Amino acid sequence: MIQDIDNSKKNAGYFAADLVQDGMFVGLGTGSTVFFAMERLSERISSEGLNITGVPTSYQATMRAREYGIPLSTLDEHPCLDIAIDGADKIDSSLRMIKGRGAAQTMERCVADASELFIVVADESKMCEKLHGPVPVEVIPFAFGLFERRIWESRMSDSDQRDFVRRVWEHNLSRRNLELGFQFWIQPARGRRLRARDFRTPSRFSRL
Ligand code: A5P
Repeated sequence: MIQDIDNSKKNAGYFAADLVQDGMFVGLGTGSTVFFAMERLSERISSEGLNITGVPTSYQATMRAREYGIPLSTLDEHPCLDIAIDGADKIDSSLRMIKGRGAAQTMERCVADASELFIVVADESKMCEKLHGPVPVEVIPFAFGLFERRIWESRMSDSDQRDFVRRVWEHNLSRRNLELGFQFWIQPARGRRLRARDFRTPSRFSRL
């Protein structure tokens, strides 16, 4: 079974890599399926002299691309990409997707947005009738305060709220983006707004 999934991932990754043409700027997504695409790109660089520049979406993608000898650049240097290849977490029958569980969502979206063509590589295990499961959310440091406010306003249980806000503050100290998995049943709250002063002082720590 795992072997079958790996074969499917490899087929999908290799198929996508074969769409890449000489001279292209290529967005490199994150996840095991994209890593197969990188493997094939590496083969093509060696066997065909394929000349490409990759723009990776995460630290893991950067490390893997380096191992495969794929020349790299950044989105700053090259904000126009020809193609981007990335994986998916769930895909429904209308081809809507959940993405981002590889913890690189924001960069993946920027790279996808910059690309002329966006290719999703996935095996059959990602297909489902109806999207379900955790929805990855990435919180950027700039918006930690707003995110915290939205959590307090949400319909989550008090203990879940406290857990999310505790994680926000832990990550806030490191100033890194925060990856969270939300369940589908979480809805925006209505009619439970907190006053602005609740969000101004460190006293919010006392709520944890
Ligand atoms: C990255 O944030 C995700 O969207 C990945 O692309 C996704 O998790 C796919 O991973 P695999 O290719 O390892 O299944």
